[in-house]
Amino acid sequence: MKDSSHRESEDHPNPEFILTIEDLNKSFDGFKVINDLNFYMDKGELRTIIGPNGAGKSTLLDLITGRIRPDKGTIEFGPDDKHDLTKLKEFEINRLGIGRKFQTPSIYAEHTVYDNLLLSLEGSRGVFASLFYKETEEHRERIHEVLKTVRLEERKGEFAGALSHGQKQWLEIGMLLAQNPELLLVDEPAAGMTDEETERTGELLLSLEGKHSIIVIEHDMEFIRQIARKVTVLHQGSVLKEGKVDEVQADPKVVEVYLGRKHSQEHLEAEEKKAAEAETLAASDS
Ligand SMILES: Nc1ncnc2c1ncn2[C@@H]1O[C@H](COP(=O)(O)OP(=O)(O)OP(=O)(O)O)[C@@H](O)[C@H]1O
Ligand SMILES: [Mg+2]
Repeated sequence: MKDSSHRESEDHPNPEFILTIEDLNKSFDGFKVINDLNFYMDKGELRTIIGPNGAGKSTLLDLITGRIRPDKGTIEFGPDDKHDLTKLKEFEINRLGIGRKFQTPSIYAEHTVYDNLLLSLEGSRGVFASLFYKETEEHRERIHEVLKTVRLEERKGEFAGALSHGQKQWLEIGMLLAQNPELLLVDEPAAGMTDEETERTGELLLSLEGKHSIIVIEHDMEFIRQIARKVTVLHQGSVLKEGKVDEVQADPKVVEVYLGRKHSQEHLEAEEKKAAEAETLAASDS
């Protein structure tokens, strides 16, 4: 009896997995960006993904959110009803409760912080719906809860355009939270932030752990140490190593392909380019 239940658990993925990604492949112009990738994540987990530039980290998020289609493989979502995301459209995936934060904040600069959250509330999506939207006590409470979580209570009446770069990023995380996502995907949240803002971002993400499942992609090792539970190292589109941050940092393969290279010319150039983009962004939306 014991034996058969064991076999069953091998044949079927863990029912508690929020994400079960198997045999995932994606090429661009014949170049394999995602290469036989397997990735499993528990419900409520806060997972960090690191890896050299071009490892396929953002592409993985594009695949999960349905922005692009894989050549092969499955992406199963949900511990309750299983959905193969590779068969769904981007908006359908979003409706299932998957929210993504891009590096560029997409907030409404001419609206107040409060209204930005109101506009993104669950069930009120779309400008048309918002125009006829009746704000209820429940919604007000919800918005205040989010404002508290992202620490923008004091700024709720201000135009979003007047916020600092870091605060805009938090507002956007708040706008995702207002939709109460099951899974939150956050790509390089600390880019362009001051040290203090970076630390606050870490605290914010940690406070969401358990309530949502979260994938955070980052390069900043100090930030990763602050938030990291389980770290996945992606290299050439596959998982190179997975484990606790200390194990990962001590792994010679990881040091060779990633941590050692973090000071290479190639990496510095890629990071400088991204920092310049973040700066332009911060300048253009303030
Ligand atoms: N839509 C696309 N069309 C063609 N090539 C793409 C596309 N998206 C990504 N790539 C390529 O796939 C590779 C992986 O890119 P990706 O953005 O996933 O890397 P990354 O791990 O997020 O890197 P970084 O740390 O620099 O953000 C790169 O070589 C990139 O140029
Ligand atoms: Mg990227």
